Amino acid sequence: MTTNIPDIIIPQPVESAFSSVSISDAEFNAIRKLVYENFGINLTEQKRSLVVGRLQKFLRLKKFNTFEQYFNYVRNDASGQALGELINRISTNHTFFFREQDHFDFLRKVILPELETRLKKERANDLRLWCAGCSFGDEPYTFVISMLEHFGLNYKNYNAGLLATDISAAALSAAQTGVYPEERLKMVPPALKQKYFRDLNDGTFQVTDILKKEITFRRLNLMKQQLPFSKPFHLISCRNVMIYFDQPTRNALVKRFFDITVPGGYLFIGHSETLRNDSCPYAYVRPAIYRKGEL
Ligand SMILES: C[S@@+](CC[C@H](N)C(=O)[O-])C[C@H]1O[C@@H](n2cnc3c(N)ncnc32)[C@H](O)[C@@H]1O
Repeated sequence: MTTNIPDIIIPQPVESAFSSVSISDAEFNAIRKLVYENFGINLTEQKRSLVVGRLQKFLRLKKFNTFEQYFNYVRNDASGQALGELINRISTNHTFFFREQDHFDFLRKVILPELETRLKKERANDLRLWCAGCSFGDEPYTFVISMLEHFGLNYKNYNAGLLATDISAAALSAAQTGVYPEERLKMVPPALKQKYFRDLNDGTFQVTDILKKEITFRRLNLMKQQLPFSKPFHLISCRNVMIYFDQPTRNALVKRFFDITVPGGYLFIGHSETLRNDSCPYAYVRPAIYRKGEL
């Protein structure tokens, strides 16, 4: 006999989807030390829940029952891939186009005109910019837009190179694809949006090839003691990166930046950051802008 009584559905435990792995002090300290020693990132006690939140899903995916198991997996992976996965998850990549507009105004009003005069005098045409900690690419693309807008047709007379580096391979891969949700373009003036982006009609926009071909994206750990460059830069932009480092790490990095800045060249940092007077070899210009003295 059939009835109209529906099957009774017994709720199943939702363990795999929602259970959380907790982290002990020893496990947190081990991960913290690993991240600090390899990437300079200082995971303070306040970052504990952020670390757990960012790694939780990965632990479940890889079927690790404890953070200790995960830590041993990272430590014993000689290929460095596990460490790469870890930094992809731990690093904070927040960024957007024309973030901290002051820098791009200063670039166009002061730095580029200065460089034009200088390069003419030196009968040179090399112009080297480095965006260190470029995340998803919004910042280096903003630099290229600013340069193209400033130089116009003269841009082709310069041998301009923009190097954009980051430790996160995931962020760099997204940067190279150059597709962004519309909200990341909210600071882009409409005329520039029209000129340098293609509407993909799905709520995202892609940067044009004109911008893409001006940037070299590379994975680079800023903790590398010997930075791999043969020529110094006219401008180094390292914005909202050093906030994750402690003071000795920042001081040492700024010294390495200084050594590869041309005399008279500039360093940009984030507006919420400052460099300490007593340890900074650059001269202060204005908030978040520093300059190396001329020879
Ligand atoms: C908050 S984002 C800043 C992005 C962009 N500069 C801006 O201001 O919009 C910080 C970036 O620094 C990168 N980073 C952190 N530690 C690094 C290291 N040791 N070497 C290279 N990049 C690092 C992160 O992967 C992240 O993409």
